[in-house]
Amino acid sequence: MNLSVSGHSPSKADLELEIERLYEKMKILHWTKEDCELIAPLTWQINHLKKEKDAVILAHSYQLPQIIFGVADYVGDSYSLSRQAMDVQADTIVFCGVEFMAETAKILNPEKRVLLPSLKAGCSLAEGISAEDIKNLRNEYPGVPIACYVNTSAAVKAECDVCVTSSNAIEIIKKLDSDKVIFVPDRHMMKNLGPLTGKHIIGWDAECIVHDQFTGEQVQQLRSENAGIKILAHTECDPSVVLESDYVGSTSGMIEYVRTSNEDSYALITECGLTERLKVEFPNKTFIGSCVLCPYMKAINLENTLEVLRSPQPEQEINVPTDIATRAKASLEKMFEMTSIPTG
Ligand code: 13P
Ligand code: SF4
Repeated sequence: MNLSVSGHSPSKADLELEIERLYEKMKILHWTKEDCELIAPLTWQINHLKKEKDAVILAHSYQLPQIIFGVADYVGDSYSLSRQAMDVQADTIVFCGVEFMAETAKILNPEKRVLLPSLKAGCSLAEGISAEDIKNLRNEYPGVPIACYVNTSAAVKAECDVCVTSSNAIEIIKKLDSDKVIFVPDRHMMKNLGPLTGKHIIGWDAECIVHDQFTGEQVQQLRSENAGIKILAHTECDPSVVLESDYVGSTSGMIEYVRTSNEDSYALITECGLTERLKVEFPNKTFIGSCVLCPYMKAINLENTLEVLRSPQPEQEINVPTDIATRAKASLEKMFEMTSIPTG
């Protein structure tokens, strides 16, 4: 890989500074200076190319730590990334996340060029339901409102009444003017939302391949082996996991729990990236237990992020047909209207 940026290469002093900057963040994750030396030319160039090309990088909390701490301009959950995408002033958004997030950014800020570094960055939930499936559900349950999880394609969002994320699903479903609500496509989240909202939820049969792997027994064992631990689970986990946990919610909800709690040790029942992020951001707290990697999220790395900035391929640029984008935007706007999460 050619390591110069439009003819400019980092000087020795630039690289030394970059290594120090990275090491300060990554040492808690047991990265050595030598590890940082290996990625410093890449992060330096990505950060310089961002300025040169008027681009910003939005990254989900499940991204690799070298993306989060090396090159991201904003890190968040699905909801906050969508809000952030709306406010981007730069010409280009490089989305270090998965395709449905990049599509959402394009729908909400269509004037911007949105780039996704890897074509492998899909999502098992988004792939688990089609626009045709939603049309069939509407025919089967006439008059029942359809809430679709943000982890869906733009075409699916276009057929729904309102979009929800893990951080606002309970609030929005409670507010829908019907005792019965269709929530798609996550079958675990659908089961969790019933008792949490007091509604009869009609669901679908897809799952997140990451959160589907955790079991209630694992959580029980974790608790029995670690006295005083706080166990925080993502809403996409099986109800048996949720039952054994101290908190259930979105990735940002888990971060807020850790930030505001006085406990020493936590287990995060979710993708590994969040645990790594919090180890860096809360160095005085302990994070215990195993996690699961999302192959879609981890398809993004420094190399393909640099390449997409340097010379994007047509298939890496996200475009949504106007008719679908207009109707999908209506579902997203309904979500913003129905949630009390601050818009800023
Ligand atoms: P949140 O970050 O919105 O909780 O979503 C988790 C997730 O699985 C995204 O793919
Ligand atoms: Fe999809 Fe699950 Fe990966 Fe999130 S963690 S992108 S929901 S497969």
